[in-house]
Amino acid sequence: MIFTAKSAEFLRWAEEKERNIPQNIDGISVNIHDINNVKTSEIAKIKETINRYNSCIYSSSAPLESNITLLKFAELVGMRTYDCNNLESNEISTITPVENNKINYIPYTDKPLNWHTDGYYDRKPIFSWLLHCVNPATQGGENYLLDHELALREYVMRHDDINNLLAADALTIPESKDTSRAKISTYIFSFENQYKKLHMRFSMRKDNIDTSPKASAAIANLKRIIENDCGKYSLTYKLQKNEGIITNNILHGRNAFKDDKVKRKLLRIRSYERL
Ligand SMILES: [Fe+2]
Repeated sequence: MIFTAKSAEFLRWAEEKERNIPQNIDGISVNIHDINNVKTSEIAKIKETINRYNSCIYSSSAPLESNITLLKFAELVGMRTYDCNNLESNEISTITPVENNKINYIPYTDKPLNWHTDGYYDRKPIFSWLLHCVNPATQGGENYLLDHELALREYVMRHDDINNLLAADALTIPESKDTSRAKISTYIFSFENQYKKLHMRFSMRKDNIDTSPKASAAIANLKRIIENDCGKYSLTYKLQKNEGIITNNILHGRNAFKDDKVKRKLLRIRSYERL
């Protein structure tokens, strides 16, 4: 795929993208009567929303009965194989502040999480994720979302060429002794996957990530675009009980939060399938 601002391919793609820019949270929201027993028409509406916007927020009138029903729901949406690289080594990870968090993974604290895609440090690409809210935080903990395709579109319109961000060594994440993960070099943008759709590996964090000298100017531009020029495309939302977000691993982040007696608790599923 040739992605320069004037290429016919890009113009066609960018035009279609322009018709699918979410205007507000309502535009990506779907109500479902019972997450444990979801209707075919509700699943179709969720899939249609993800197909247009790469994300969807669902709201269930009934509370989740068990982790098994959450996995069944995820499967109906299109997830089939799951990443289990998490604290519990499980298909579902419970995202809640953990005391004595030895490895000190930020997701399991009350700290903010800056813009990133999930699994940018994993060899096997994560194509989708789901976050289901069991308990919201008393204060803060909003998630913010930005369709990575819109970030790419904005980048190409301003800087034309994404070659340096397609390079296989654009980012290098050194090995982690804590998690026994080997060093990995990766692209930031790639269309080379079975879906021929954009997959993005990115994190705004500065520590623990090296950028190739060739890509560093492009990465600085990309960061500026995400922070300064994509406000019009990003959405911020605080999930309430029985609500969740499903995305094609778009860019996202989280605000810091404070809890009272009941801790913020979200269930997370990451899958190798694009939805
Ligand atoms: Fe994440």
